[in-house]
Order: sequence, then C-alpha cells, then structure tokens
Amino acid sequence: MSNKNLTDDPKDHIAQIKERWEFQYAKEEAAGGLAWGKKSSETARLLGAFLGPADPGEEIVDVGAGYGRDTHAFTKLGYHVHAVDLASNAFERAPTEVKKLVEDGKATFHIGNFSELSKTIFREGQFKGLNCHRVAHLFPTESLVDDFAEAVAWGVADDGKVCISARDKRDYNPDQMEWIDEEKGLARYNDTMEGRKGHIISFWSAKRFEDKFGGKDSDFQIVHCVESEEPESVTNDVATKFTIMHAIRKARAQVQDNSNPQKGPSNIIPLPTGSQAFAGTQLRFPYAAFKFA
Ligand SMILES: C[S@@+](CC[C@H](N)C(=O)[O-])C[C@H]1O[C@@H](n2cnc3c(N)ncnc32)[C@H](O)[C@@H]1O
Repeated sequence: MSNKNLTDDPKDHIAQIKERWEFQYAKEEAAGGLAWGKKSSETARLLGAFLGPADPGEEIVDVGAGYGRDTHAFTKLGYHVHAVDLASNAFERAPTEVKKLVEDGKATFHIGNFSELSKTIFREGQFKGLNCHRVAHLFPTESLVDDFAEAVAWGVADDGKVCISARDKRDYNPDQMEWIDEEKGLARYNDTMEGRKGHIISFWSAKRFEDKFGGKDSDFQIVHCVESEEPESVTNDVATKFTIMHAIRKARAQVQDNSNPQKGPSNIIPLPTGSQAFAGTQLRFPYAAFKFA
C-alpha cells in the first residue's frame, strides 16, 4: 500500500478531478460521442419516480451533471434544473436539445465545485430535489465528503428528495487499481487506463451512506439504498457498479429541536409492498416502469 501523491489539501484533489474530467470530455469529443448516451441514469429515474411532476416554479439541482442527460430528463417533469459541473468543457459537449433548454429558460448550467458554489449562488432550501449520479466516489478525503454532504443539506428544501449514487467495492478492478486503504475503500488507478493514472476512487456502500447522511443528528432520513450498474461508457462497455441512496431531507425545525423525540438516528423506511429491498442488498430496480416522457 502506498500513500504517494495523496495530499490532504482539498484544492489539490478538486483540481485533479477537474483535470481528469476535462481530459475525458475532450477525449470523447475527439471520438465524436457522448460518454453515456442520451438515456437518463437510474439515479435520475429513481428521483423522478419519487418526485413526480413539478409544481410551478419548483427547482432541482443536478450535481456533477456532465453534458446534461439527467438535467434534460428532469425538465420533462417541469422542473427548472440547475446543472453544476466542475469540468469547464462538460456543457460544451451537451447535445443541441440540452443547450436549447438554457435558451428556453428551463435549465441553468454552472461551472465549478458544487460544495463551494452552493452557498454563494443558491438559496438555502432552494431545491425540491437533488440528483447526483456517479460523482461522490471521486471525493478521496473525508473533508471533501463532509463539505459535499453539508452543501446537499443546505440546498435541499424540507422534505425534499435526494438521490445520490457512487461506485461501490464491487467495482474494484485489481488489473487497473491498487488499494491505498482497502478497509476505507480507497483505491488508485495504475497506468493501464489512459488518462487515469493516479486517479483515486473512494468506494461507497449502504453503510457509508448511512454514516454520512443518515446517522444520529443527521439532516436526512434514508429511505433505502439499492445496488445497480450501467456501462462504464459507450466506448468502454464494461459494467460499472454503484449504490444509489434515496433520502428525504428532514424538516429543519425537527433537526434543530433537541427535545424532539423524532430526532435521532434515521431508520430505513420499509418500501411499499411489492418493492424489493435493500440497504445495500441486491437490486432489481423497482421503479423500472417509470419513464420521463
Ligand atoms: C462520472 S461523471 C457523471 C456525469 C453525469 N452525472 C452523468 O451520469 O451523465 C462525473 C462528473 O462529476 C463532475 N464532478 C466531480 N466533482 C465535482 C464537484 N465537486 N462539483 C461539480 N461537479 C463535479 C465531473 O466533472 C464529471 O463531469
């Protein structure tokens, strides 16, 4: 195990993630494709199924939106979507119909680190929902994860819905990676993948979601965690495996009221009859019937 190149400075890590993704989007542009096609992610479908159509004026944030495939989907439900991405060239990659959403006032794209931008450009409780697909495993330090969780809690409205997915340990590939700390789920790419050398992956699990988002005094009630997968990209057709957390933002008054007996560790809420489940166990997506349009 080696800790070489691993600094504690969050800025270094954010700069490395930005560089890595700008390289990736430039590579795809050269290949003439969109990394994950136009179909929305399973994380977005889960959130869409829970949220349903928007009431007038309701907004969603899509964190690490890439070229906007999920952003596009949520606009079909009537939400104004704020798409945030670190990579300055991500939105340039967006298909014409996604760029048009901005012209039509249905979406806004913001370039930058969500955790830093959040409190400066968004209102507290602005969002009815938050979607974040395949991003959180990119944060290699606990301080970055904590900043992210704080920004999520800040931006989402009371009772708002949150769906966050992140790669889990099923995705560890010994041919491409080495463990930095297996117990913590921290691995680093070796030089077998172009443009990925040194890139750190911090794997998640249902337990980690529970610890970060659902523990005592937390701002969220976790509904469930499900395991899923999708092709790594259209040019690399291997399955990438991730866990999706669905959580509800607790009311701020409840979280702040120390005498409230409901305050405390969140319990996993049982899913409605007929759904399969969970807490990190096998998924067959129970919301497969949901379609954006
Ligand atoms: C695997 S891609 C997923 C893109 C998109 N969610 C999708 O599935 O189509 C991860 C994206 O997260 C972005 N990202 C990583 N860290 C971020 C951060 N702190 N703030 C905003 N975006 C971030 C990257 O630039 C990249 O575009």
